[in-house]
Amino acid sequence: MTTDHSSDGPAPAVVRLARYTTTDLQEILGDGSDPFGVADTGLIWLPKEEHFGIQHDGRLVAHAGLLRLPVSIGENITDVVGVGGVAVAPDVRGRGLARHVMTAALDHARTMGPRHAILFCRPPLVPLYQRLGWQALDGDIRVEQPSGSVVMPLRTMWTPLHENAECPAGEVRLLSLPM
Ligand SMILES: CC(C)(COP(=O)(O)OP(=O)(O)OC[C@H]1O[C@@H](n2cnc3c(N)ncnc32)[C@H](O)[C@@H]1OP(=O)(O)O)[C@@H](O)C(=O)NCCC(=O)NCCS
Repeated sequence: MTTDHSSDGPAPAVVRLARYTTTDLQEILGDGSDPFGVADTGLIWLPKEEHFGIQHDGRLVAHAGLLRLPVSIGENITDVVGVGGVAVAPDVRGRGLARHVMTAALDHARTMGPRHAILFCRPPLVPLYQRLGWQALDGDIRVEQPSGSVVMPLRTMWTPLHENAECPAGEVRLLSLPM
């Protein structure tokens, strides 16, 4: 699936947000109890540390967040950049705003050091993230929860942040809560 954005006008500016609050999230996705549709996983999530957003007509309409996290890949312990909180307001979806805000967030992620970025998503969103250059990670990955390590029930996607960063080889385990 592809969308012709040529009639959308100039690319919207993505800004670095000094903070991102629950009110900001509600401005984008409304005040429903499960805006990302992942409540049934029962997982506890980490807030993100770096925030990127798009404003339109004086309101925030898109967001992507980043957080550096420890991970083990096979025998190696390293860091990845976790991407989360990707959100576009319902009335402006399908215009490339997720693409724009993710492009800016990943441009920044490339300056953070880790070789890979990862995100977790519901299965129906896998094709969308593939369209944005992400790849599905095969196999289960474990993440930490207050009760201990659990298998992540969502799909894990990864993308290289550095040239020649290959697919993470070996068992991947997030050594923290997920983002
Ligand atoms: C998921 C979400 C962020 C997408 O936002 P959006 O602004 O509509 O996405 P975009 O318009 O930037 O689309 C991104 C790309 O995916 C493509 N795409 C969209 N749906 C697709 C599908 N089902 N299959 C394949 N590609 C798809 C688009 O065509 C676009 O590619 P292009 O720029 O090459 O045309 C938005 O629907 C949302 O906020 N959902 C609720 C919150 C949520 O679930 N967030 C995800 C958390 S992991």
